[in-house]
Amino acid sequence: MSVPCARIVPVVLLLVLAVVGILLLVVPARDVEVPPEHMYGIVLDAGSSHTSVYIYKWPADKQNGTGIVTQHSECQAKGGGISSYAGVRGAAAGSLTECLDQAVKVIPTSRHRQTPIHLGATAGMRLLKKVNATESDRLLKEVENKLRSYPFIFKEAAILSGQQEGAYGWVTVNYLLENFVKYGFVGRWLNPGRQMIGALDLGGASTQITFETSERVENDNNSMNLTLYGQTYRLYTQSFLCYGQEEFLRKLLAHLITTQGVKTYISHPCYPKEFNTSIKLGKDVFDSPCTKHNRPAQFSPEKSVTLVGTGDYQSCLDNVKKIFNFNDCSYSKCSFNGVFQPSVKGSFMAFSAYYFSHRYINTLTNMHITSPRQMEEAIQLICNMTLSEITEKTKQIKKYTKNVCAVSNFIKVLLTEGYHFDSLSFPSISFEKTAGGAAVGWALGYMLSLSNMVPAESPGVIKSLPYGPWFCILFLFLILLITALGYLLMTYRSTTNKEGMV
Ligand SMILES: *[C@@H]1O[C@H](CO)[C@@H](O)[C@H](O)[C@H]1NC(C)=O
Ligand SMILES: *[C@@H]1O[C@H](CO)[C@@H](O)[C@H](O)[C@H]1NC(C)=O
Ligand SMILES: *[C@@H]1O[C@H](CO)[C@@H](O)[C@H](O)[C@H]1NC(C)=O
Ligand SMILES: *[C@@H]1O[C@H](CO)[C@@H](O)[C@H](O)[C@H]1NC(C)=O
Ligand SMILES: *[C@@H]1O[C@H](CO)[C@@H](O)[C@H](O)[C@H]1NC(C)=O
Ligand SMILES: *[C@@H]1O[C@H](CO)[C@@H](O)[C@H](O)[C@H]1NC(C)=O
Repeated sequence: MSVPCARIVPVVLLLVLAVVGILLLVVPARDVEVPPEHMYGIVLDAGSSHTSVYIYKWPADKQNGTGIVTQHSECQAKGGGISSYAGVRGAAAGSLTECLDQAVKVIPTSRHRQTPIHLGATAGMRLLKKVNATESDRLLKEVENKLRSYPFIFKEAAILSGQQEGAYGWVTVNYLLENFVKYGFVGRWLNPGRQMIGALDLGGASTQITFETSERVENDNNSMNLTLYGQTYRLYTQSFLCYGQEEFLRKLLAHLITTQGVKTYISHPCYPKEFNTSIKLGKDVFDSPCTKHNRPAQFSPEKSVTLVGTGDYQSCLDNVKKIFNFNDCSYSKCSFNGVFQPSVKGSFMAFSAYYFSHRYINTLTNMHITSPRQMEEAIQLICNMTLSEITEKTKQIKKYTKNVCAVSNFIKVLLTEGYHFDSLSFPSISFEKTAGGAAVGWALGYMLSLSNMVPAESPGVIKSLPYGPWFCILFLFLILLITALGYLLMTYRSTTNKEGMV
């Protein structure tokens, strides 16, 4: 080679510099770190139908930053939600034993006394509190004493409000997607201008919708300003009590019974054809505070009626719509039941029961649902299926399979006619169970908020490098890289050309 080293060496150095610079800017920090020692946190999600226990972990030397906290393990408590043990002393606490004992095992002993434990109860307990506040207080105290009997740091056992539940779900989604803070090898920086993702949660007793909006929120009860890492997010949030999956199904039964009159056979258009089942008027329908108001005049809770499935898509849909009030609205616009809602904007993540129903619809019809029209076609097919067809394809127990037609219609009406997702905005909903290895729900956002791990102010350790400058620097390094490569290539070619001529 006749090319002088003096000409090549500085260019090679520039090339190396450019590659290193680009790597520093784009490679996520976590991939190259050695696993450090961890800290742990426990959240009990005391839902209306069951309790889930989540254990989270994060590197012991860091805690403020998104993407740092991950899910370590998860445990589903056997039996019903804590509210289902109303009136039975000790049973709610007892139902948690297995999962708490497991937490003791999976968290290293040396960390037990540094591990915070929180219990958040949702709509099941909100409903019980309406019916019997003494009993809901007693239950909370009972589970609190249970949590205190373990070697962890007890933080709280509380009933979350609908707004809190919605907002914590939103925090979880955007934290897991690293929308607040961006990571690079040299550190983390804020991520202003990033589109936040809205959260759609469907539980057993309530459903939540939460998203960032720039429109005026006409009812203060739906407005929440969250300041995280020095950025303020204006959120719209609404929780519909009694519009969770289980309570909706109860409301539908109550509606069918009151419109047809209390008689031995009640036809149920959403149940599969040739399926019938017997229910008790009290326990299965009218005992809930969600249905109490339309109890029939001569009502005896022990009376049974037989529901006879007719598998009639159109009649099912018509009855499902009756559970919503789309007419009364004292604001400029509403979702339903007179509740204000700005237009849905941006992308959404739909989780919990939304995810499972969406999966059933896909499994049953082999259709990939991306529009309301497709969803309607899929539901028509599902409502026409027999119980054995559904059971065969989903491998699920009767409790779920008999309700797929009703729940699918409910979700479709809720999303399209309730929240006003249309053929343009519907595809922006993604149905997920997990993100970044953690279950999507309010639990993570709740722990992060209570332990100040998503601080309001922008902590000093985080380098505030806005997206614009970050991109400029990346662009400069890329120019450098291309120039250096180009120069080397030209030098190489002129050298080989000269050699060829020799
Ligand atoms: C995290 O942020 C909170 C609030 O800003 C602060 O009190 C705490 O010391 C921070 N922790 C770490 C490890 O930086
Ligand atoms: C509420 O629960 C308590 C038990 O904590 C019970 O003694 C009382 O009768 C209940 N009240 C009502 C109205 O059901
Ligand atoms: C806001 O919520 C409170 C408590 O639930 C309620 O009393 C009040 O009427 C609500 N305000 C509006 C404007 O809806
Ligand atoms: C949130 O901030 C906006 C203006 O930035 C204000 O109009 C609204 O009332 C605030 N909401 C709450 C609940 O503080
Ligand atoms: C309900 O089902 C049972 C057995 O599954 C059957 O004997 C009965 O005739 C059915 N009743 C109606 C009204 O379809
Ligand atoms: C429902 O299924 C039956 C056969 O099980 C079929 O004859 C009928 O055409 C189907 N109806 C619709 C609307 O798909």
